[in-house]
Amino acid sequence: MGHSDPQVEQALQPFWMPFTPNKEFKQEPKMFTRAEGMYFYTPEGQKVIDASSGLFCVAAGHCRPEIAEAVYKQLQTLDFTAPFLRAQPKAFELATRVAEFTPKGMDRVFFTNSGSEAVDTAMKMALMYHRSKGQAQRQIFISRERAYHGVNMGGVALSGMVNNRRAFGVGLAGVYHMRHTALAENKFAKGQPEHGADLADDLQRFCALLGGENIAAVFVEPAAGSFGCLPPPKGYLNKLRQICDQHGILLVFDEVITGWGRMGANFGAQAFGVTPDLMTMAKAITNGAQPMGAVAAKREVYDTITNAGPAAGVEFFHGYTYSAHPASCAAGLAMMDIFTKEKLIERAAALSPYFIEGVHSLRDLPIVTDIRSIGLMAAVDVAVDGAPGVRGHEAQKRLYDAGLNLKSTGDALIMAPPFIAEKSHIDEIINKMRDVLSRL
Ligand SMILES: Cc1ncc(COP(=O)(O)O)c(C=O)c1O
Repeated sequence: MGHSDPQVEQALQPFWMPFTPNKEFKQEPKMFTRAEGMYFYTPEGQKVIDASSGLFCVAAGHCRPEIAEAVYKQLQTLDFTAPFLRAQPKAFELATRVAEFTPKGMDRVFFTNSGSEAVDTAMKMALMYHRSKGQAQRQIFISRERAYHGVNMGGVALSGMVNNRRAFGVGLAGVYHMRHTALAENKFAKGQPEHGADLADDLQRFCALLGGENIAAVFVEPAAGSFGCLPPPKGYLNKLRQICDQHGILLVFDEVITGWGRMGANFGAQAFGVTPDLMTMAKAITNGAQPMGAVAAKREVYDTITNAGPAAGVEFFHGYTYSAHPASCAAGLAMMDIFTKEKLIERAAALSPYFIEGVHSLRDLPIVTDIRSIGLMAAVDVAVDGAPGVRGHEAQKRLYDAGLNLKSTGDALIMAPPFIAEKSHIDEIINKMRDVLSRL
């Protein structure tokens, strides 16, 4: 669908695109001008099925009128108020609704505008929590290879993806990385793999090396998403929890992708039966219709920080101009209604086995080297051709031309359909994958 009209190319220059090969895109633009339900539409009118929920965002499908109307009404009523020293009722309502979905006791909610901001907020909460307890020496963070925790400097320090780190090295001290869990023995596992729980012992080794009393928090995605769907080995997260408890370290789940039903339960925490101390979220909280992220904290974390603060003064010097923006809160509340009324998370759980079987049916293709899957998320690895990532990028472009939108990372093709998908939509996604991959 590409073109190389110099005039069009020129007109596209001013927008510096994020995480995109700008030169290539501007010669071969791939645009959407409309979306509805499971589909995007290109300016030429081509229908493209959305196999990645935009970017793990539109769990309820595109262009939900309930959300659009709620945002419109909000912007006509109260467009903005500062979130510092002033507030608006929907912020409190949404925090209460969010806490109905989080694990019991994780009912203090801080709003941000993105997942990246939620991650950096959680890092600062962890430091502040320990300082409030008289343990300001806890400054070290533990993360994991292949992790993605957004693009702000804190999250980049936690990152385990080399391209996201290598150019930004200064200031990334104080973070140590556990090994990733993508083991060869786990190839083609459906759901949580059998091998690798002992990789959590890396945390114990860092405690022995650095002193557990110096570690503030451990950050993990319950199932790594952006790198290409790495579900946690059975028992792995429980072990991390155990070691954190032993050393007084906070456990943080970055649930920006795994939250809001993607794993077939409210959050990864419930899907895997392990409760963290802090949990980040974003994306599907508003169905992607307004920018919003959040950190859910255990009540003890909030109480410790708040009670240690002055009797009359700010306790936590952190926040964004657009924290709990009225339009985002309105979108979030409309989305909470959709989750409840349509039993959307139960629907995702019910569709998961069909989706997983479908994705694994691609295993016979010679180009496919691994498939990983859990809930309504899966990644298909294609064999490296020349440099890593070249074939994955090519596959993603050809899939778009064939009418299928998905996210690729390196040579992993990542699928995460909206929860409103019917079995026929899953079939359409799998058929298009088979068709394109068998010709690649
Ligand atoms: C686990 C995780 N954390 C953080 C982020 C960053 O979120 P955002 O792009 O909204 O800043 C992402 C984005 O995909 C993510 O997957």
